[in-house]
Amino acid sequence: MDRIRNPFSPGAGSPPPELAGRDGILEQAQVLFGRIRARRPEKSLLMTGLRGVGKTVLLNEMERMAQSEGYRTILVEAHENKSLAVLLVPHLRRLLFDLDRIAGAGNKVRRGIAVLKSFIGGIRVNIGDVEFGLDIEPERGAADSGDLEVDLPNLFTAVAEAAEERGAAVAILIDEIQYFSSSELSALIMAMHKMQQRQLPLVLIGAGLPILPGLAGESKSYAERLFNFPDIGPLPEPDAAKALKDPIEAAGEAIEQDALHEIFRLTKGYPYFLQEWGYQAWNHATASPISLQDVQTTTELVTQRLDENFFRVRFDRLTPREKQYLRTMAELGAGPHRTSDIADTMGVKITTLGPVRASLIKKGMVYSPSHGAMACTVPLFDEFMRRAIPRFER
Ligand SMILES: Nc1ncnc2c1ncn2[C@@H]1O[C@H](COP(=O)(O)OP(=O)(O)O)[C@@H](O)[C@H]1O
Ligand SMILES: [Mg+2]
Repeated sequence: MDRIRNPFSPGAGSPPPELAGRDGILEQAQVLFGRIRARRPEKSLLMTGLRGVGKTVLLNEMERMAQSEGYRTILVEAHENKSLAVLLVPHLRRLLFDLDRIAGAGNKVRRGIAVLKSFIGGIRVNIGDVEFGLDIEPERGAADSGDLEVDLPNLFTAVAEAAEERGAAVAILIDEIQYFSSSELSALIMAMHKMQQRQLPLVLIGAGLPILPGLAGESKSYAERLFNFPDIGPLPEPDAAKALKDPIEAAGEAIEQDALHEIFRLTKGYPYFLQEWGYQAWNHATASPISLQDVQTTTELVTQRLDENFFRVRFDRLTPREKQYLRTMAELGAGPHRTSDIADTMGVKITTLGPVRASLIKKGMVYSPSHGAMACTVPLFDEFMRRAIPRFER
């Protein structure tokens, strides 16, 4: 069928033609934005889920919602090797400068800038040339203790008070939150605790791999009180069918029921895979409606494309030892698996596996869904590992 009119959009963060099955979570965000603007308490959101379930797409959608509710927004993506402070400073600076341009009485915006300068002085890292232009001195002692758990709450307070003074509200959206260190996460949590205590108009929305199991003690209990942790998962069959069928019909074409069912069987409803199968099935069908046979003949091609693009990039970043660990997990099935079972299957003592587990977690390949358990962050990665390394050897 005509490739130019193909409605599907496989790719990280690409908006799908039909955002299926996410009404509940979007409504939750809508209520959150409305309530915080009205100075009513509401839990912020940390969306967690595996790769390719649509977290980034939701985050982008929520940024749009926030903007249409009149929020000032900041959207950033965390990285393995970039600190939270370095990530946020340029955006907070821009935000404060924008607020400075809104007419209004008071000096909270200038104070916000002074506190941001103090914060920059405290973090002692090079953040490049953050040119301020304004003749404002850093407010000594405001946010420069060097302890992020103290400084970040003070900085957020100053920013939110500046926004409040100009009748604005702020939404900070952060993708890939699992890359933050536990001290950065707990600083964020403490900062949001302060927002809630003072009923300041600042909302945090995060997305990433599950982080709660990694938090400990006080941070964990605060986090549970301050945030909702909606689990973003694969789509149930009716939503998966809608995600495929509606865009095809909107383009004036059709797909048969058993074709939809087969795609669901193969993808298990994971959004990224739905887009990929939909895209290829459309391209390779000779005529509408797309049939079961069309799906079956494209499956090999889709698998190959996923192996080359989605899976292979991750595989290529692994050391031989890491590959062996993941191949062992794959041998055990889809997971999650007990770390002791993994060690037994590898034929080694569990204590020797700490380092390889830590490096796989750091690379975002595995996470711990509960104490003593490991799971892969990429859906269907076990099937890929068995294709990539057909013979299991311990
Ligand atoms: N609700 C949905 N329905 C259909 N496709 C979706 C949905 N959410 C996301 N997708 C598609 O899934 C793919 C992955 O989305 P993305 O937001 O990058 O996932 P994540 O950030 O969780 O890794 C994209 O191609 C996107 O178009
Ligand atoms: Mg993403």
